[in-house]
Amino acid sequence: MTPGLWHRLRVEADTVFGSRDGSNGANQPIDDGLISRLELADRTMRETLRLHPAGVVSPRESAVDVHVGGYVIPKGTLIMWSAHLAGRNSVAWADPLRYNPDRFANLTNEQKSVADQAWVPFGRGARNCIGFMLAQMELTIMIARLAQRLDIAPITDVVPQPVGLVVNRPLGGTPMRVNVRAST
Ligand code: HEM
Repeated sequence: MTPGLWHRLRVEADTVFGSRDGSNGANQPIDDGLISRLELADRTMRETLRLHPAGVVSPRESAVDVHVGGYVIPKGTLIMWSAHLAGRNSVAWADPLRYNPDRFANLTNEQKSVADQAWVPFGRGARNCIGFMLAQMELTIMIARLAQRLDIAPITDVVPQPVGLVVNRPLGGTPMRVNVRAST
């Protein structure tokens, strides 16, 4: 686990949802104003989906001849595009295999545009995921709430390899020791 990240997520969640007064701000209704303040949880969601998109590949069929990157893709060709490869493309991402949620902080407009084009865990274009906004909100809130409520620690140093072509998942799971939050 990235050193210090869980603690930083916890501090952010406590600040946004309320302190540990017994309720964890659990009854606080969550609206877009609160979600927009979960900046680190949002970056964590983005970085996790960059390296580990749920869908590894998705198909398209070219409706016309397409000229791209010096190649011609004839009309009617089946194309497999990959969010997994786009998220690890060294042209778009510095040190692409390093897990670092803060890479999304303080981007220039140009960097933001490059990152946006190469971040496609929900697809892109007319057939992209219709649930992408809902899913991003849910994941951001889940990350913040889990950090606020649980102490977790991996029980091994071995980082599981990704497995699965259509649905990406960690080989052998991600064994963790999980406890109700003890520290403040
Ligand atoms: C982490 C959560 C999710 C991920 C990673 C995800 C990812 C994707 C991806 C990669 C596609 C294919 C996009 C493409 O080919 O361009 C897709 C399609 C789709 N997703 Fe999601 N999705 C998620 C959650 C949801 C949710 C919450 C809903 C509904 C509320 C949803 C509904 C759909 C639908 C209906 C399509 C098909 C769209 C079409 O073919 O026009 N997804 N999703």
